[in-house]
Amino acid sequence: MCQKGKRHCICLPLIVLIITLICLCVGSYGDEEPNFRFQFDHFGHRPTTFAPTFGVSHHNNPNSAAGGNLFNYYNTNQIWSSLARARALKPKVVNVDAFGAKADGGDDSQAFKKAWKYACSSSQGAVLVVPKKKIYHVKPIDFSGPCKSALVFKVYGTIKASVHHSDYKERKWLYFDNVENLRVEGGGSGTINGNGRTWCPARKRQHNVQVGGVRIKNAQQMHLTFRNCFNVKASNLLVKAPGNSPNTDGIHVSGTQNIIIQNSVIATGDDCISIVSGSKNVRATGITCGPGHGISIGSLGAKNSEAYVSNVIVDKATLSGTTNGVRIKTWQGGSGYAKNIKFRNIMMHNVSNPIIIDQNYCDQRKPCSKQVSAVQVSNVVYQNIRGTSASDVALKLDCSQSFPCRGIYLQNVDLSVPQNQHNNNNIAEASCSNVRLTYQGNVSPPCST
Ligand SMILES: *[C@@H]1O[C@H](CO)[C@@H](O)[C@H](O)[C@H]1NC(C)=O
Repeated sequence: MCQKGKRHCICLPLIVLIITLICLCVGSYGDEEPNFRFQFDHFGHRPTTFAPTFGVSHHNNPNSAAGGNLFNYYNTNQIWSSLARARALKPKVVNVDAFGAKADGGDDSQAFKKAWKYACSSSQGAVLVVPKKKIYHVKPIDFSGPCKSALVFKVYGTIKASVHHSDYKERKWLYFDNVENLRVEGGGSGTINGNGRTWCPARKRQHNVQVGGVRIKNAQQMHLTFRNCFNVKASNLLVKAPGNSPNTDGIHVSGTQNIIIQNSVIATGDDCISIVSGSKNVRATGITCGPGHGISIGSLGAKNSEAYVSNVIVDKATLSGTTNGVRIKTWQGGSGYAKNIKFRNIMMHNVSNPIIIDQNYCDQRKPCSKQVSAVQVSNVVYQNIRGTSASDVALKLDCSQSFPCRGIYLQNVDLSVPQNQHNNNNIAEASCSNVRLTYQGNVSPPCST
């Protein structure tokens, strides 16, 4: 979120208090693309356990995919063999209740720790079960590995963070450390209620993490963060925070490659999805967003930093009452690129800035001074985007003078403004500068050049 240049993020120490719900993945900072580390340092993210993350962090062979399996997205040989082993041996089912969890309002932490330890030591795979229709209260827990085989964590009931400040010496709540081949599954009923706590990060790398069917509520900051991850699938999530809660990004993707986010409903006080530097091959599909700030790439290039985002597809999304629809935002003075981006099949309902590229993004107290360099924005496709704009300007392409946006392609865009006292003809406006455009089909409103 610092990448997003929130005011209070700028002095980063404050951030540490913060709260994300799920953090699985990890910062193995040594062997990732070099700019990751730079990003963290640059924005003051300390590469410590505080960085909220979830996912996987290490490169494996992404081409060895083979379907039909527990972890069937970007499968790897390693997972195959691990699961083949697990299947042959029948995974152990480990129920937290069997380890003394009571779900009676008391502290269930010890039971969770013991159950984890037992599951993690199974060499035949394990399914760790948090039974449904029960509410377990837990203090901070380090679910650390390495584990002997693949794990499925079935959170069917509710896990709630304890509310006592004194329990949080390290400002983190649930975190997975050095665990590979993990799937977190909520079955549609599972709930992780942060009470404002962090489900926090691991230090070591993880491969191939999936999270699905979980309801994630009341994180005080970003709910689900994938940082320096590789091969991630997040699906069927319900992420909720009050619309007026600050900095509650729904899903934050940073330095992560090969990630699918699908069929999820996100209602928060900040971006539904934010995608920042180092992210590549990101696909978001079937997203329902609002309230919130929409789906954003960026912000990128703050404080003269380099930023690289490429190959992003947002397909089949509905945004309602959000402050932005699909947005690319970069600061003046940055460098690098945001390229090969597709927004398609998107429905807007009363969205304030349905389509926006803002290369003069400035979210700080002091006005941003004019700078020459910029993150280059190129090859951006807007296809089949319809609906209503809450402001008169439905299409805003405000690009850098020195690095104009290139290869912007608009096809079948139909955005209108509901009648109001300022505008009684339903016609939306466009505001475009320093942009090289191509149109196809009907585009309304068009840039008036
Ligand atoms: C549309 O959005 C504006 C600004 O966000 C809000 O004031 C207005 O009530 C919304 N209209 C409808 C019909 O939801």
